[in-house]
Amino acid sequence: MEKITDVLIYNIVSVIFSFIMVIASLIYFDPVSAIVTLSVAFGFIFFSYFMQVISQESNVRANDAEDVERGNISDFFTNIDSIKYYGKEKNIKKKFEEIINNTKNAFMKNWGYHRWLDSGNSILIGAGTLILLIFPIIRFLNGEINLGTIVFIYSVYSLLVEPLYNFIYGLRGVYSSLADFQSLFEYGKIQRQIEDKPNAPKMTISGGEVEFKDVSFNYGKRKIFDNFNLKIPKNSKIALVGHSGSGKTSLIKLLYRFYDINEGEILIDRKDIRDFRQDSLRSEMSIVPQECVLFDDTLYNNILFSNPTASKEEVMKAIKFAHLDKVIERFPKGENTVVGERGIKLSGGEKQRVSIARAILADKRILILDEATSALDSETEMEIQKDLAELMKGRTSIIIAHRLSTIMSADKIIVLKDGKIIQQGRHSKLIEEPGDYKRFWNIQKGGYLKDNSTEKL
Ligand SMILES: Nc1ncnc2c1ncn2[C@@H]1O[C@H](COP(=O)(O)OP(=O)(O)OP(=O)(O)O)[C@@H](O)[C@H]1O
Ligand SMILES: [Mg+2]
Repeated sequence: MEKITDVLIYNIVSVIFSFIMVIASLIYFDPVSAIVTLSVAFGFIFFSYFMQVISQESNVRANDAEDVERGNISDFFTNIDSIKYYGKEKNIKKKFEEIINNTKNAFMKNWGYHRWLDSGNSILIGAGTLILLIFPIIRFLNGEINLGTIVFIYSVYSLLVEPLYNFIYGLRGVYSSLADFQSLFEYGKIQRQIEDKPNAPKMTISGGEVEFKDVSFNYGKRKIFDNFNLKIPKNSKIALVGHSGSGKTSLIKLLYRFYDINEGEILIDRKDIRDFRQDSLRSEMSIVPQECVLFDDTLYNNILFSNPTASKEEVMKAIKFAHLDKVIERFPKGENTVVGERGIKLSGGEKQRVSIARAILADKRILILDEATSALDSETEMEIQKDLAELMKGRTSIIIAHRLSTIMSADKIIVLKDGKIIQQGRHSKLIEEPGDYKRFWNIQKGGYLKDNSTEKL
């Protein structure tokens, strides 16, 4: 918009004024020169416009190629560790060369049009100059005009050339801005997948009962849940276990309404979550997600993020609760340590504890822990588990864990397989009955749980 207004003010307005002045004075002194100048100027403008129109597609293509290049650069930097771990610098360099070659070719093609445009314009100006040399000189030789008039004609003609060139450079800028606009409008066409109902009210969770009722859901064509039913009473602590890919995280994403279900209902306190504003629904639950990504900000601000109005005492309490205080002591800048892009300067377990502190600070009726302690050492995990057990009192909690030791005290354990509940009940009951849970338990008992399998949290 800025570029376009600049062109309008500095290039187009100035060319119009120069044009009017030049033509008016030439008509007065020598109408033939006025006609020649007028023709050159119109020819120049129409030719430039025509060239811009036919080069617009290649303009858009060059812009797109540049966007792809930028996207890839950011992807390479995101994956820099993987590139180094596998020593694939050369492959990436080659891939990058291909990408920049694409951009280069797209731009060269676009510049090809500019070459034609510049040459055409130079020919037009040159032809104009030639004609202006011939006619006024003939008139001068015939004694019809004097030398001063000739000098005047050439001066005003050359005065017009610069604004004309500025005009086409401006036009080029306008068209390249329009190509950017076109990309922007493409983004505008993207539809939100999840829409709030008109005038949807804010949700406030007072009880905390969650119910999945006859839920069917697909990711595109892939069926994940078919007629899924699960009721989680308020203030209960339920655990979801099952093979990787069985749909545990997806169930949470549905509860957060990241996707709308195909059939059935998801109810919180017997109210359909689709009837409320999605931002209010999401802000009523706290979660420690499976993949924890942090902002490139201080540890303190990363925790504060979940509840920006919290006091310093509350944040420090959450830090202590998540057993981050001892970690922070070792950082020279304490809680004001900047964690780096995506939290890269923290260890996996430290990041996870920041995420736990965040969920604690949010302090909501429904608490979700998706593999919340998976990156911690066994000792820290045990300590945090004790605190978490305390935190879960008086809240509805959904815990997802592969390590069964962390969910033994749940009121109900749900075993999922391919989006279906295949077993449910308390730990003591499930380890008695034949099935996946008993199998998982026996495998883990042999390894990780050997020493603390009797520890109940
Ligand atoms: N955004 C998505 N688009 C398409 N398929 C997806 C998407 N997210 C997950 N899936 C698929 O849905 C299935 C269930 O994934 P989900 O993340 O719920 O598994 P999970 O039980 O949480 O597994 P894990 O224990 O490994 O975390 C997987 O097979 C996965 O490939
Ligand atoms: Mg998962």
